[in-house]
Amino acid sequence: MRALTGIKPTAQPHVGNLLGMIQPALALGSSHDAYYFIADYHALTTMHDAEGMRRFTREVAATWLALGLDPARTCLFAQSDVPEVTELAWLLACVTGIGALERAHAYKSAQDTGKDISVGTFSYPVLMAADILAYDSNAVPVGRDQKQHVEMARDMAQAFNSRFGEVFVVPEPLIRDDVATIPGLDGRKMSKSYGNAIEVWLPSKQLRKKVMSIVTDSRGVDDIKDPDTCNVFGLYKHFATPEQIAALAARYRQPGLGYGHAKQELFEVMDAQLAPARERFEALMASPGEVETVLAAGAERARGVAKGVVGRAREAVGFGRAPRWSRS
Ligand code: ADP
Ligand code: TRP
Repeated sequence: MRALTGIKPTAQPHVGNLLGMIQPALALGSSHDAYYFIADYHALTTMHDAEGMRRFTREVAATWLALGLDPARTCLFAQSDVPEVTELAWLLACVTGIGALERAHAYKSAQDTGKDISVGTFSYPVLMAADILAYDSNAVPVGRDQKQHVEMARDMAQAFNSRFGEVFVVPEPLIRDDVATIPGLDGRKMSKSYGNAIEVWLPSKQLRKKVMSIVTDSRGVDDIKDPDTCNVFGLYKHFATPEQIAALAARYRQPGLGYGHAKQELFEVMDAQLAPARERFEALMASPGEVETVLAAGAERARGVAKGVVGRAREAVGFGRAPRWSRS
């Protein structure tokens, strides 16, 4: 079984990305043939800053490696190193109705901003389908917000297969309910675009400051509190052990715990868990050659797979004139 997922290099990864997608994807690495990429073509729909593109691409790659991705097993690469996906996106665009793209949540929210929308933003789901289908992916580990995009990729695979024969594997989204929507500082879904994110690699001091800024209700030290509706606890349960979680939940339910204490506990478990990987991240960022070597090898491997699949699709639609007019 092949697993594939991507993340855009538009900012340093945040805790929502880490818990909702990166960790579940890493866990699949042992049971699946995994292909994980940095979605730089997709990032270009919103980020027009070449220096930022290079920096965040390196940061996202270093993030995967620092968190334990083994490049000898899992193929880690940059999307734009496999230009075959843009060709495949065209083939898929020709079996996709405008109506389907108009119904995409991401397009609708782009419309809500009132700004001019690029063709790239409108056809974002087609390129994403190409990413998925180009590698014969079976499973696509993502957070809940990407479910619709993976379903659109399924629809495009089926539309193409029904016209041209069984060319594409039909993929499944893989969404872990327990981490599908991680809350941010204000309790809404943690997202770069809401300004409520906690970046994964903040130095301890800044991490503590961010944690201390989590929004809570106005209950005082001696009020009984509800862990299940608290933004601090909402993150704590993803970093603490089951014993620590039960102990803090019990303290919420009796007088004597201020939110400041709860935040300090959250900071401590997060910092303890992230510190060793943070050191590896910093070491990788200090030796860009190492990251580049991994990405170059990943690109070669990924491109080999994509060329085969896109070749199948080209032949199915009648390009290349094989087999009737084979050149030999
Ligand atoms: P953002 O919403 O901050 O722009 P991305 O769109 O780059 O994040 O998301 C990359 C991956 O991380 C996707 O698979 C997405 O579903 C997942 N993800 C992002 N935010 C969260 C969150 N708050 N909870 C769970 N998963 C998330
Ligand atoms: N759209 C995804 C996001 O915003 C990133 C992405 C691009 C992706 N191509 C993909 C995810 C293919 C999974 C599979 O997070």
